[in-house]
Amino acid sequence: MHKLTILAGLCLVICDIGSASQMVCYFTNWSQLRPGHGNYTMEDLDPFLCTTLVFAFAFIDHNNELVASGWNDKVLYKSFNGLKTMNPHLKTFLAVGGYNFGSIQFSKMVSNETNRQKFIQSSIKFLRAYGFDGLELSWEYPGTRGSPPDDKHRFTLLCRELVQAFAAEANATGEIQLMLAASVAARKKIIDGGYEIAEIAKVLDFINVMTFDFHGSWERITGHNSPLFRGSEDSGYHIYSNTDYAMRYWRDNGTPLEKLRMGFAAYGRTFHLTSSETGVGAPASGPASAGPFTNDTGFLAYYEICTFVKDTTINWIEDQKVPYATKNNEWVGFDNRESYETKVRYLKEQKFGGAFVWALDLDDFGGRFCGEGKYPLLSHLRKLLNIDHPVPGA
Ligand SMILES: *[C@@H]1O[C@H](CO)[C@@H](O)[C@H](O)[C@H]1NC(C)=O
Ligand SMILES: *[C@@H]1O[C@H](CO)[C@@H](O)[C@H](O)[C@H]1NC(C)=O
Ligand SMILES: *[C@@H]1O[C@H](CO)[C@@H](O)[C@H](O)[C@H]1NC(C)=O
Ligand SMILES: *[C@@H]1O[C@H](CO)[C@@H](O)[C@H](O)[C@H]1NC(C)=O
Ligand SMILES: *[C@@H]1O[C@H](CO)[C@@H](O)[C@H](O)[C@H]1NC(C)=O
Repeated sequence: MHKLTILAGLCLVICDIGSASQMVCYFTNWSQLRPGHGNYTMEDLDPFLCTTLVFAFAFIDHNNELVASGWNDKVLYKSFNGLKTMNPHLKTFLAVGGYNFGSIQFSKMVSNETNRQKFIQSSIKFLRAYGFDGLELSWEYPGTRGSPPDDKHRFTLLCRELVQAFAAEANATGEIQLMLAASVAARKKIIDGGYEIAEIAKVLDFINVMTFDFHGSWERITGHNSPLFRGSEDSGYHIYSNTDYAMRYWRDNGTPLEKLRMGFAAYGRTFHLTSSETGVGAPASGPASAGPFTNDTGFLAYYEICTFVKDTTINWIEDQKVPYATKNNEWVGFDNRESYETKVRYLKEQKFGGAFVWALDLDDFGGRFCGEGKYPLLSHLRKLLNIDHPVPGA
């Protein structure tokens, strides 16, 4: 009995050290187009902030091959992967797809083995040519937006065949095997129609569950972008619209804990209020004004929210553990360091393998807006996850 207690105690110490959290951060190639202090460039990237960096997004062309999407992406890939000379522990991924890319080209590519192999072989060549460590599948989503129900199983085939080919290539070349990850839906309906969870979880190195965009200006009442828990007013389908439900759903259907990455938003979603009500569930008609830097209606970067909240109060949604603010008929639900703390406490209690953040360029990366230093959200997240700082140059 005593021996067991001592062993268990030892494990608490050792196993805790062993289960270092991962922090996966997204870079977006379009953030270099934002005006003034919103302009995010390669110089803003910090090789020591995250354990893994993902470049968003590459595309699939009409020959079913992986290709760059932006006019200067190939130049950016070089600087991006060059960060590994400063931090050799850093891993880099290329993400393919994205919301705007949609489903059509993915559907065509997975439709038969010839097309899949074309994509797979082109991916290996492409990733190796630019020095990425892995591929991240950002298909939004199998089984929706023009993708037939059959794609649920074909997505499994794609994942399996990718990993088989990655293994064969590593075996043949002696290189470290390429890794494979996916960003997946957090909405129950899309999950059910899109993924054979236990099957893809067997072969993927990790799975980013996109636990945000649960509510936004497409709805007629205010709701939070990324609530941790179910709201007391949530009913019907909305009982599933929260981080906790989505993460447990992916876990309970067969994803090993260490492969799960929980999504953290560095942005908020806005509404235009139409009455004197200002809480969660208040009547709304469309988005608030676009941010001066991100220029996307219904959406504000964390650094734009810092300006928004300067002369108003921040309210806390008690049951959902996230903040919102209102000003002049405008409403924003967002995340800040306090909600990141609560979410990381939850992540650790649940023993999920780590976090991922959308996106690097939405935090106050230059420390010019919030008065909280550079990368206030991401550097706080890094600290909360107990990620050791590798010694630069070691
Ligand atoms: C962003 O910064 C880069 C590097 O300083 C510069 O080349 C580019 O023109 C800037 N873009 C905008 C939109 O200001
Ligand atoms: C960035 O990537 C998107 C695809 O996600 C592409 O359409 C766009 O042209 C790229 N932008 C730049 C500035 O390269
Ligand atoms: C695979 O699908 C493509 C269309 O995307 C078609 O042209 C080709 O003939 C198919 N190949 C096989 C072996 O079915
Ligand atoms: C690895 O390579 C060896 C010979 O080089 C071969 O016998 C073996 O089947 C290969 N394994 C895989 C998984 O490709
Ligand atoms: C903002 O976006 C709109 C289209 O949605 C565009 O017409 C306008 O030129 C953009 N403004 C800036 C400052 O980029």
